[in-house]
Amino acid sequence: MKILSIETSCDETAISIIEATGGIKKPVFKIVANNVASQIALHTQYGGVFPAMAKREHIKNLPIVLEKVLKEAKINHTPSAEYGHSPLARGRNKIDLIAVTVGPGLEPALWTGIVFAKELAEKYKLPIVPVNHMEGHVLSVLMQEHPSGLKATSPSQGRKNAKYKTPKISFPALALLISGGHTEIVLVKDWMKYKILGATRDDAVGEAFDKVARMLELPYPGGPEISKLAEKMRISHPSVSAGTPSHLPLAGQEKFRLPRPMLHSKDFDFSFSGLKTAVLYMIRDLKKENGDILKNEKVKQSIALEFENAVTEVLVAKTLSAMEKYKIKTLIVGGGVSANKHIKSEIQKAVKKLDSNPLLYFPEKDLSTDNAIMIAIAGYFRFLKNKKGVRINSNALKAVGNLTL
Ligand code: KG4
Ligand code: ZN
Repeated sequence: MKILSIETSCDETAISIIEATGGIKKPVFKIVANNVASQIALHTQYGGVFPAMAKREHIKNLPIVLEKVLKEAKINHTPSAEYGHSPLARGRNKIDLIAVTVGPGLEPALWTGIVFAKELAEKYKLPIVPVNHMEGHVLSVLMQEHPSGLKATSPSQGRKNAKYKTPKISFPALALLISGGHTEIVLVKDWMKYKILGATRDDAVGEAFDKVARMLELPYPGGPEISKLAEKMRISHPSVSAGTPSHLPLAGQEKFRLPRPMLHSKDFDFSFSGLKTAVLYMIRDLKKENGDILKNEKVKQSIALEFENAVTEVLVAKTLSAMEKYKIKTLIVGGGVSANKHIKSEIQKAVKKLDSNPLLYFPEKDLSTDNAIMIAIAGYFRFLKNKKGVRINSNALKAVGNLTL
């Protein structure tokens, strides 16, 4: 079936069309078209995402993104086309289902996608399936690039030429979801059966990356910027790695030591707000003694490295202990922060050491940060589970900012 999916939970306006077959047990996905309009450039000016501004941008971008997707899918559709006359509603290119993110996320932003989806569904008499954004992140790993596929060069090209295979998932699985809004360890007992084992008590890990980046006068979103800085120091000083005490190459090394919050707590919760504050104090103290240390690239690299190491150690330790406790057979890592190279390689190393030899999946590039492809995948699963989408005018279709799995 062909699924048109819409994602507007935060600062990306994303629409995709995918072809899904095979059912829940043996799904096969093919990307027909995909487009993302990022608001990053706009939000960079303000150092973060403002819901009212995000909403305005989504409203502006949705018709443009849809147009691009239809063009890429070679669906010759005019916005004024009546039901029955549009290729969206009939023929080879017929869309069977609309999937839309209903939460969690910024409610004003979510509503723009929902209203847009409802209009399309009403016009073309299509069922809508509401999608939980976090389920999208979990299922985003179901599209693993086939080595023989051609590489697409940018997300806007839709990775259409890439070939995908659906990886094997053995249960129980565990999902480590690390994004700008969430940090969760989720037990996945079976397809679509979740139990949240632990979550952050304050800031999400991506949020901490973004806030620390701002303290270091780096642009938004800060995760990739911190990662780049840390990487430079890691290459020039390979002895500084996660798990070892930080022998940072600067005077007064202890000054560069950051806490590993909740590393030894017996639960699977996280807390990153104290770590963020520790960075704030570190910068303040360094400035008192040395003036504007943020002009010194090495100092910035050292702080970025120590911060990334601290976050990584906590994420790895908690994930590993949950894996051992619940005898996990598959680890899925999803969300924007899963794109972080260091976190990825430390998780890979740690999982490799386990005797139980679990499967491990990260999303393909462009599928870790917010996108509509993962929403289409989750929409397919939910549609099959519920057998039908929600009726178009149903009140059930509403934005829920704090929706949980
Ligand atoms: O999943 P996502 O696109 O949006 C949410 O659902 O929140 O995640 C965005 C977050 C941002 O905080 C961004 O800084 C972070 O993911 N991020 C990274 C990296 N790439 C994106 N954090 C660390 N390292 C990265 N390479
Ligand atoms: Zn997300």
